[in-house]
Amino acid sequence: MNFLLLFTCLCVTHAQPDVIGSDKPVTVTVGEDVILPCHLGPPFNVRTLTVEWTRDGQYVHVWRHGKDYLTDQDENFRGRTSLFHEEMIRGNISLKLTSITELDAGSYTCSVPKLQSQARRGFINLIVGEYS
Ligand SMILES: *[C@@H]1O[C@H](CO)[C@@H](O)[C@H](O)[C@H]1NC(C)=O
Repeated sequence: MNFLLLFTCLCVTHAQPDVIGSDKPVTVTVGEDVILPCHLGPPFNVRTLTVEWTRDGQYVHVWRHGKDYLTDQDENFRGRTSLFHEEMIRGNISLKLTSITELDAGSYTCSVPKLQSQARRGFINLIVGEYS
């Protein structure tokens, strides 16, 4: 019994968090801002790790060495992306994307490549609607 308990505890401490995106698509209207949800479960401080947001293999936003690294960022997203730096301590790596255009629609990936877990990436579909 004691042995079983110890074993369980070891497993839990060694488990690495998963990256979790969104099963449901996120819908936004042209011109608005949107938050693409993505977080680590259980919560895990990612400020010292690399966090990558991509779409179709293009970089949307990269966080590296404790700061934004936007050298390789796709032109389409220039000046329109940000992470919630305080939230990242709790494993929240949601991305804010401002001034949405039709070109922003598509399938986004958030990933923390250094994690040892099964799920190192999450997926979020963004649907962009017209003005109503
Ligand atoms: C992550 O942060 C954003 C912005 O503050 C917030 O809207 C969202 O609910 C947070 N997600 C989680 C899982 O805490």
